[in-house]
Order: sequence, then C-alpha cells, then structure tokens
Amino acid sequence: LLAILLLPFAAFGQSGLSPFKTEPLKVGITADSPPLVFKAGNELQGIEIEFAKMIGKEIGRPIQFVELPWEEQIPALVDGKTDIIMSGMTITKDRSKEIDFSEPYVEYGQMALVKDADRTRYPNARSIMSTRGSVAVIPGTTGATFVESFFPNAEVKPFGTPDEATKAVVKGEADVFIYDSPTILWLGGEYEQEQVGAIGINLTVEYLGWGMRKDDKKLQKEVANAMAKLNADGQIGWVLDRWLPK
Ligand code: ARG
Repeated sequence: LLAILLLPFAAFGQSGLSPFKTEPLKVGITADSPPLVFKAGNELQGIEIEFAKMIGKEIGRPIQFVELPWEEQIPALVDGKTDIIMSGMTITKDRSKEIDFSEPYVEYGQMALVKDADRTRYPNARSIMSTRGSVAVIPGTTGATFVESFFPNAEVKPFGTPDEATKAVVKGEADVFIYDSPTILWLGGEYEQEQVGAIGINLTVEYLGWGMRKDDKKLQKEVANAMAKLNADGQIGWVLDRWLPK
C-alpha cells in the first residue's frame, strides 16, 4: 500500500515537478571582499556566507553559491541565474530601479588605504577627496562612483579585485585605494608589513542589503521574515561582531 501511495510522488520527483522537492537557493557572490565574502584557499568564508547559510536554514532551502564577476551580479539575478545577491552590495537608488533590496543589515562607509609614508598628507576627508594622485577603484562599485563624482583632481585607475588594488598601492602604482571600510580595514591589517594601511575616516554612509528580483515577492517575503527572526535572536549581530574589524 505504501508503495502505491508513494509512486505518484516518485514520478513527480523524476519530472522535477514534485511539490516536495526543495530547489536550492542560488546565491550570487563575488568572493573577493574580506570579511564580507572571500576565499581562504578554496573555502568560501565571511559574513555573507554565514548569512546565506542561516537564511537557507530558516526558509528550508539548501544553498548553492554562484560565483560571478561583480559587474554581472545584477544581470545574472534578473536573468534568473541566481535568486539573491548576498555579496556586500550597497543599497542604492540606481540599483533599486532594477532589483529590490532586503532591509539593510549594516551601515558603513567608503575608506581610503594609503602608504604609511603618505598618511600625514591625509588628515581629513577633504584632503583625501582633493588628492591629485592616482586613485584605485573597482569598477561597478559604489566606491568607484564616489571617486568619479567627488575626487575632481584624481587620476582614476580601475583594478579587478580589492587585493590587486591594495598591491598597486604597495608598489606605488596607485596612491590611494577607495573601497568599503570593512575590506579596507581588513586589507590594511593583512598588508601591514608592506607599509600600507587604512585611514580611519568614513567618507560616505552606505547600507548593505540583499538583492532580489522585483517580481519575486515570495522570496522577498520569506527573506524578510527570516531576517527579522535572525535579528531578533541576535544571530545577525553576532556574525557581524565576529567578523568586522574593530
Ligand atoms: N559595497 C560596494 C558596492 O555595492 C562593493 C561591493 C563589492 N562586493 C563584492 N563582493 N565584490 O558597490
């Protein structure tokens, strides 16, 4: 009897239409920005990786990470190659025309990384923004947009990853690197021996959230509920506390 009862569901399962089959949640990431999302050897690590696993658990779906170049994140989401972007993405007006965002989970700003020897040249935000030097940015990021709009005298130099941009400052190929403060602080620590470091001034105010398709109201709602719960029971705060440079 059991076999007869289960047979139709088995057949559904084969066709991929089973109401019980849980589709993995495809999470778009660019694993180049410690401590948000990065790789230690081959292992994915960081705040967003832990958040994704927590969200997957709450909504009852396995997580499938999809690694993409940063500038492909929004097109891939819109095309359905991913279901959600969890990759340290700043909530912006421009992006909100194409995708919807969750509530923010953290606030931070853009920060500068410079050679230790140059540090005294940058006592405040104004001195950083009026630099006549070359400024490393990652194309398609809020840092790049900020530099293009508010650094009138700078020579803007694009780099592929935050790590490459940091190395460029070390080698003197760029004078300043502008990027998200958590990553700048992290890289400043990692490259301390090479005589570079963060200038601890927040140059902007930004909020990070998770991007989802505008028409995917079901997922948006599930994620909002999961996030509310993870906020209420302290799990989100705990992950941030553990990873964010103090
Ligand atoms: N927060 C910045 C932005 O939204 C940079 C994020 C880059 N994230 C990454 N995983 N590479 O533009």
